[in-house]
Amino acid sequence: MKFFIDTANLEQIKEAQDLGVLDGVTTNPSLMAKEGITGHQNILDHYVKICNIVDGDVSAEVISTDFEGMVEEGEALAKLHSQIVVKIPMILDGIKAIKYFSNKGIRTNCTLIFSVGQALIAAKAGATYVSPFIGRLDDISTDGLNLISEIANVYDNYAFNTQILAASIRHTMHVIDCAKIGADVMTGPLSSIKGLINHPLTDIGLEKFLKDYKKGN
Ligand code: G3P
Repeated sequence: MKFFIDTANLEQIKEAQDLGVLDGVTTNPSLMAKEGITGHQNILDHYVKICNIVDGDVSAEVISTDFEGMVEEGEALAKLHSQIVVKIPMILDGIKAIKYFSNKGIRTNCTLIFSVGQALIAAKAGATYVSPFIGRLDDISTDGLNLISEIANVYDNYAFNTQILAASIRHTMHVIDCAKIGADVMTGPLSSIKGLINHPLTDIGLEKFLKDYKKGN
């Protein structure tokens, strides 16, 4: 399972990278705005900064909603850095753009996936990743994890190469449940990754080991 961090915060990206388990970064316009990154050139510069911190894929989202605009933006994003994956919304022109990029060998992440049908057509178009938003489904009393299972089942049936990138992960249990289901990638906040490390019995056990060592020395 690949671990992506879902933020545009450079300190957090660096902290996750330094842990040694980070495989990539996902961003979106809301996450950029949260860090105060506004203006076209500033956003492009920020993507390059992120690419220079991490080794893996960095999703950069287009703002256009028409085919021509998405193609123009996506091509410019892809030229920024070899690690950039062009993030395209799940809309009709987005499917056309994903097909276009797939034919050109430019990697894509189809975002705002909320149904199996959307994941199916994105895979047909050749998306590298699909991003089902599990937290936002949970928010409206719909089982987000079930969507991951259903997409995994459909992709297995036809051996699609598209990777399931479980997004809108909110906490550590989401990460664990996605791993059990077999999501290819998870993207979440730094806390959802660091939370995997914690267990009170580990802390108690370590404290005792260290105390016992001191007894003998
Ligand atoms: O990766 C998608 C993510 O940024 C959305 O997360 O928590 O806003 O639903 P959230």
